[in-house]
Amino acid sequence: MASLLYALLFQIILLLMIHTSLAKPLCHPDESSALMEFKRSFRITTAEFRCVYPKVESWSPNGHGDCCSWDGVECNEASGHVTGLDLSSSCLLGNITSNTSLFRLLHLESLNLAFNDLNSSSIPYGFGNLSRLQYLNLFGSEFSGKVPSDISRLSRLTSLDLSSKWASLEMPSIENFVQNLIMLRELDLSIISMPSPFPHILANFSSLKSLVLRNCGLHGEFPVSIFQLPKLEVLDINYNDNLSSFIPEQQWGNPLKSLSLGGTIFSSSLPSSLGNLSQVAYIDLRGSKFMGQITASFANLTQLSYLDLSKNNFTGGISHWLLSGALPFSFENLTQLVWLDLSFNNWQGEIPNSLWELKDLEYLALRHNNLSGTVDLHKLKNLTTLLLDFNNISFVSNTEVNDTLPKLSTLSLVSCNLHEFPRFLGYLNGLEWVDLSNNKIKGSIPTRMWNGSKETSMNMDLSHNFLTDFGSSHINLPMPQLTYMDLSHNLLTSFLNKHINLALPMLTYLNISSNLLKTTLPSPPPLAKYYNISNNNLFGEIQSICKARSLVILDLSINSLNGTIPSCLGNIDSLTILNLGRNKLEGMIPNGYPKVCVLKIIDLANNRLQGPIPRSLINCPMLEYLNLGYNQIHDGFPSWLSKLTKLRAIILKSNKFYGPIETYRNQFNFSNLHIMDLSNNGFTGELPSKLLQSFHAMKVIVSQDQLEYMNTSQGLPLSLETYEKIVDYDMKLMSKGTEREYTKVPYALKGIDLSNNKFEGCIPDFIGDLKSLVLLNLSNNILTCFIPPSLANLRVLESLDLSRNKLSREIPQQLAQLTFLSSFDFNTFGASSFAMNEGLCGNPLPKKCTTIGDDIPLPTSPLEEENGDKSLFDLDWKVVLIGAGVGFLIGVVLGNFFIDEKSRWFLYYSRIMAKGWKTSRRC
Ligand SMILES: *[C@@H]1O[C@H](CO)[C@@H](O)[C@H](O)[C@H]1NC(C)=O
Ligand SMILES: *[C@@H]1O[C@H](CO)[C@@H](O)[C@H](O)[C@H]1NC(C)=O
Ligand SMILES: *[C@@H]1O[C@H](CO)[C@@H](O)[C@H](O)[C@H]1NC(C)=O
Ligand SMILES: *[C@@H]1O[C@H](CO)[C@@H](O)[C@H](O)[C@H]1NC(C)=O
Ligand SMILES: *[C@@H]1O[C@H](CO)[C@@H](O)[C@H](O)[C@H]1NC(C)=O
Ligand SMILES: *[C@@H]1O[C@H](CO)[C@@H](O)[C@H](O)[C@H]1NC(C)=O
Ligand SMILES: *[C@@H]1O[C@H](CO)[C@@H](O)[C@H](O)[C@H]1NC(C)=O
Repeated sequence: MASLLYALLFQIILLLMIHTSLAKPLCHPDESSALMEFKRSFRITTAEFRCVYPKVESWSPNGHGDCCSWDGVECNEASGHVTGLDLSSSCLLGNITSNTSLFRLLHLESLNLAFNDLNSSSIPYGFGNLSRLQYLNLFGSEFSGKVPSDISRLSRLTSLDLSSKWASLEMPSIENFVQNLIMLRELDLSIISMPSPFPHILANFSSLKSLVLRNCGLHGEFPVSIFQLPKLEVLDINYNDNLSSFIPEQQWGNPLKSLSLGGTIFSSSLPSSLGNLSQVAYIDLRGSKFMGQITASFANLTQLSYLDLSKNNFTGGISHWLLSGALPFSFENLTQLVWLDLSFNNWQGEIPNSLWELKDLEYLALRHNNLSGTVDLHKLKNLTTLLLDFNNISFVSNTEVNDTLPKLSTLSLVSCNLHEFPRFLGYLNGLEWVDLSNNKIKGSIPTRMWNGSKETSMNMDLSHNFLTDFGSSHINLPMPQLTYMDLSHNLLTSFLNKHINLALPMLTYLNISSNLLKTTLPSPPPLAKYYNISNNNLFGEIQSICKARSLVILDLSINSLNGTIPSCLGNIDSLTILNLGRNKLEGMIPNGYPKVCVLKIIDLANNRLQGPIPRSLINCPMLEYLNLGYNQIHDGFPSWLSKLTKLRAIILKSNKFYGPIETYRNQFNFSNLHIMDLSNNGFTGELPSKLLQSFHAMKVIVSQDQLEYMNTSQGLPLSLETYEKIVDYDMKLMSKGTEREYTKVPYALKGIDLSNNKFEGCIPDFIGDLKSLVLLNLSNNILTCFIPPSLANLRVLESLDLSRNKLSREIPQQLAQLTFLSSFDFNTFGASSFAMNEGLCGNPLPKKCTTIGDDIPLPTSPLEEENGDKSLFDLDWKVVLIGAGVGFLIGVVLGNFFIDEKSRWFLYYSRIMAKGWKTSRRC
């Protein structure tokens, strides 16, 4: 009996042993060595941002011989073959080539290499060998080049993700690529460039649960039958600019959870069938040209947590689909909303009160609508971002709001018709970024406003208000961390130096321009990088500026400052933009530029400075723009400036320059120059032909957007981000007989003004080589000879002035071919352009030539003067001023959002949107 029992037990143990050894067969040596070889083809980079954990580090043929137990490796239980390899975020750096050992793992069913650094190498040919693959994920691994066609042979694939974060992969024909992949449940090819029609074949892929083709350059028509795919949960075709479609008024009949149609062309209204999508949590329709009124059925979407309808052309009120009471649905039903963006539409009317009941809201944007109403934020405890710009709002005057909005970090209330500071501002303690510009806030800035956020406040813009001062006698700005303050464009009349000086040791950005300050120059904050106090009534000397040693941009222009320019400016190594124009500065320009000079713009125009121009400017190789006009500089022509090859504009007009410009020894290289204005000086000699011949940029017509301006952009490292400040060239030019001030100078405007000097001799024929000249003024000199016919080559010339010289003979008939010019202004480029040259005759002058040559009839009236939309002079540059100042910053912020879609998606789902906002702002 016992022996029988023993025998039975023995047999059971034996069976168990056999079974376990069967269940865990050792991995095959060839696969083990293929894996080891794969491992060795990479470096491990744990510093990489995609790196989470280097799984392959533990792989070893000796210690754990069984590769099936290695991290990230999965084997078939019965055969021991490697069937799964998950090396996502495994810190791999290197290339995969087509003879990679990876392709020897023929039993692979699942392969995940997402989030490694594959070095911008191309996806190797060879994946097609892994014919059992069902799952392939290469997301975010920085492949580039063409997607190899053999992947499309993998007909067992149910999940394929080749999307990248940066656009570098290409796919010639997606239709061919996907046609065999009929089993697909998940497909993500985002940011792969495939400029082809949308693959209609996908409408037959009835297993599809997730279809993501974001930003692929797809065009044509998006087949609406995709909306009816029975299992579809995620549809994302965002940012295929030329893809068009509409949402049909049909039942969807699928469990859709996420719908992203942003940045496409859905020029239709939203059908009420949208109300069927009872499970939908995420809807992004921004910028897709939707229009019409919002369907009431929206209120059915009770699971919705993310809704972005911004930048469409929705009309009507939002209350009729959101307002509680009158209708059987309400905002209150959308209780899950975390993100709501209704910005940039044509909504109008009242903001429904039910909006303020959405307790979970973290992001609320209603920017640029015509909404009005009273904002009551006290229930929105999770709010981090509130953007209500360009609406007509007020805030509930609840004095007990001292504990509201603990998480609010970004607040933008530009042009909200506010008459006072919102009270809750004084009780916020996490605020980092405030913009209250363009309101009607009057009077003093309440002290309390600074209190709560003093540790966090970084950026503040209060411009375009009616602020008068910082309150009464005991003003305190207790914001030791504040780095950014913009109070420009107000009516500020006093500003207490002490407080800027003492209380804001960290301030790096200070803009108090365009106010009414009538005081001496306030001491700059010691760490200031940006200091702009232009356009005030400042008087006295500017020596105190020497206290700021970190200046990058200094603008003291348009004041009444006097005294001399302190030579300490030459010691501020970081100074890039210096504008002291339009003051009463006198004396010499200090000769103090150090060996390291990074100045790009020097504007000292309209002062009383005397010469000479300091030669040490030669140490400023970055110099692009030099404006010394309207001073009393007594000097010869600074031909050495030609060593500064980046110079694009030189203005020396209205000074006391003298002598000939070139001698036989001179060599010039002003190859980037667009504008040279030497007018109103005492230059003598022949027209400087070597100089003019060196203006290579004026010899080519580059088709340039006419709305591009000459400017310099300068990054200002503030503590949270780099603030990109664009500084435009600002100059006065003589055109068409009048002096015009250009606050922005079009890039395409190229001009030479040598008028009002004593140049003599002939106009050289090669002047016709400067083909892109728009402005040429040689008037009031002593030029003789005839007008060179080559002037007719200047096809884009708009303003020509040769008057008051001693030119003679007939005006060349070829000039009539200058149609562009002739159709724009004949007042100037008519008779007066040539006037007072006694020897000159022919049309358009009244004096007839006595020789046989018939006068060429020129058009007599400026036909297109009215709609001169092509003329560089007639555009209203000031109106086109988009994106200056902080508005620009917002543009950048949203711009980054636009680009970094995938990140936003992730961040959103992990509920750290506040952080996401900051991250993308830092980019
Ligand atoms: C990896 O690929 C990149 C891009 O194709 C190439 O520049 C580099 O030389 C390759 N490196 C190696 C080690 O093959
Ligand atoms: C709203 O949802 C209910 C059920 O959840 C459904 O019966 C109704 O048809 C939906 N309304 C619309 C307009 O889709
Ligand atoms: C909306 O909520 C109200 C109560 O808050 C409820 O009576 C109504 O049925 C809800 N509507 C829908 C469509 O869920
Ligand atoms: C927006 O819609 C209105 C009226 O429906 C229309 O007049 C207007 O042109 C549309 N605007 C755009 C930008 O499509
Ligand atoms: C706010 O956020 C917290 C943490 O994410 C969450 O627990 C809470 O439910 C949210 N809603 C409110 C109203 O606090
Ligand atoms: C809010 O105000 C009330 C009374 O005005 C006060 O008792 C309470 O301490 C305040 N709370 C905070 C957080 O300041
Ligand atoms: C500068 O102007 C102030 C008054 O505006 C005057 O008192 C002072 O003398 C002037 N300084 C110089 C150097 O001209």
